[in-house]
Amino acid sequence: MSLWPYTVFLLLFILLTSSNANNEQRLHLKRLQRTHQSNSPSCYSQKSKSENGATILEMQHKDYCSGSVTNMNRNHQKQLIVDDDIRVRSIQASIKNIISGKIETLSQTKIPISSGVKLHSLNYIVTVTLGGRNTTVIVDTGSDLTWVQCQPCRLCYNQPEPLFNPSVSPTYHKVVCNSSVCQTATGNSGQCGNDLQDCNYVVSYGDGSYTRGELGQDHLVLGSTSVENFVFGCGRNNKGLFGLASGLMGLGRSDLSLISQTFETFGGVFSYCLPSAEAKSSGSLVLGGDSNTSIFNNSTPISYTRMLANPQLVTFYFLNLTGVTIGGVAIQDSGFGKSGMIIDSGTVITRLPPTIYKAVKAEFLKLFSGYPFKQGVSILDTCFDLSAYEEVNIPTVKMQFEGGGEMEVDVTGVLFIVKSDASQVCLALASLQYDDEIGIIGNYQQKNTRVIYDIKQSQVGFAKETCSF
Ligand SMILES: *[C@@H]1O[C@H](CO)[C@@H](O)[C@H](O)[C@H]1NC(C)=O
Ligand SMILES: *[C@@H]1O[C@H](CO)[C@@H](O)[C@H](O)[C@H]1NC(C)=O
Ligand SMILES: *[C@@H]1O[C@H](CO)[C@@H](O)[C@H](O)[C@H]1NC(C)=O
Ligand SMILES: *[C@@H]1O[C@H](CO)[C@@H](O)[C@H](O)[C@H]1NC(C)=O
Ligand SMILES: *[C@@H]1O[C@H](CO)[C@@H](O)[C@H](O)[C@H]1NC(C)=O
Repeated sequence: MSLWPYTVFLLLFILLTSSNANNEQRLHLKRLQRTHQSNSPSCYSQKSKSENGATILEMQHKDYCSGSVTNMNRNHQKQLIVDDDIRVRSIQASIKNIISGKIETLSQTKIPISSGVKLHSLNYIVTVTLGGRNTTVIVDTGSDLTWVQCQPCRLCYNQPEPLFNPSVSPTYHKVVCNSSVCQTATGNSGQCGNDLQDCNYVVSYGDGSYTRGELGQDHLVLGSTSVENFVFGCGRNNKGLFGLASGLMGLGRSDLSLISQTFETFGGVFSYCLPSAEAKSSGSLVLGGDSNTSIFNNSTPISYTRMLANPQLVTFYFLNLTGVTIGGVAIQDSGFGKSGMIIDSGTVITRLPPTIYKAVKAEFLKLFSGYPFKQGVSILDTCFDLSAYEEVNIPTVKMQFEGGGEMEVDVTGVLFIVKSDASQVCLALASLQYDDEIGIIGNYQQKNTRVIYDIKQSQVGFAKETCSF
């Protein structure tokens, strides 16, 4: 037997181990478990500040705020994944309806406004001031209308803050049904109330959650920036957020969204850094400012990719995913670059087209080997029992986008810890059911990343950042 193949193997081995430094990251499983057990504070009335012309709002994970991180048990984690599946299925269903012509665009369904969003899976909250009152809302890039629960209320879920009361806000006024605001907001399909005064709206979310009421306008203060006559939904009949926030902030791409309504103030630029629920830290939602300058605390340069135009799906932000690397190995698949992927703050787990997911999973299993397997949970099918390990090295996952944009998935975003004793830990990526469904970049993979949405220049930027406020 010749020694030659053996030498080649050795050489390869040395090459592989010497490049490991950049291609894997260390995850401390035991340290994560300890933070799960700490006491979480309540975090309503989150802070804000202004720097270099930008407004910075503190942003936190709702589980961290509500204390449910402390019961990070299997049922809670599993429910989160099941809810996430429902959100994605309803996004896919509304996309199909639009593409097949059943609904022409999401914006034309404004009354009733449909949304692919599953409310309960949305995770990140900020506090703004509406009509003079602090109001904590869920942040969502996957829908447009901002709304709050409104008094008098026919059906409201419990919320920690007092309900918004239009009659005590001197700056509140209704959007009247025959106004141009109502016409624009509702795509000329306005359903006037009995007195022909109210501009009624309904937003139905995919899981049976909904908000209905009438559109109003009031003074919105974001940090120290005032927005006059901000159009929002005064929700009289709401179901779905389960007492975690007073309403929702819509950061989608179309006319009604907060970003469109504040275009003159913030120039169509916003960004976020999503903290992980386990780390006791805050993140930030930054509105405005020069998208070039150093208001961010990023540790790598910002890389940009263009937003794809999708005239049919006006709410969502689409990007062109051109590649994925796992531990430095580029995944080969002809599915890359074929259709846009949605980048979403509300979906948790990233969904990849089936062929891409299969290739990613195979490479991950090659590099993350030797650990005992465990059965899957809902959409997560690649799971391990890591309870015997203090820490593990996991391959670095990078997503590459057209034009050189690159997002390196934070070490906390590669594995999903289903059981807090690490006896069930899964690869935090999932497959779509069909190749013609639209991929989604979820918030679990966006943690500790500065994600910049620059609508004016039609681009999205990524940089590594340890979220803080
Ligand atoms: C609103 O929140 C800010 C902090 O974010 C706090 O300083 C202020 O007192 C609050 N106002 C009211 C009326 O609660
Ligand atoms: C809306 O209707 C009111 C009367 O109900 C009328 O006075 C007003 O001029 C109308 N506005 C528009 C823009 O048509
Ligand atoms: C960012 O910088 C480039 C060149 O340095 C400039 O052309 C562009 O206008 C800047 N963007 C903003 C939002 O100021
Ligand atoms: C970056 O860090 C500095 C110092 O901690 C802080 O003042 C600033 O607000 C941070 N910027 C953002 C966008 O969080
Ligand atoms: C994505 O980018 C690749 C490489 O630049 C290009 O060939 C492809 O046409 C793009 N896909 C879309 C949907 O724009």
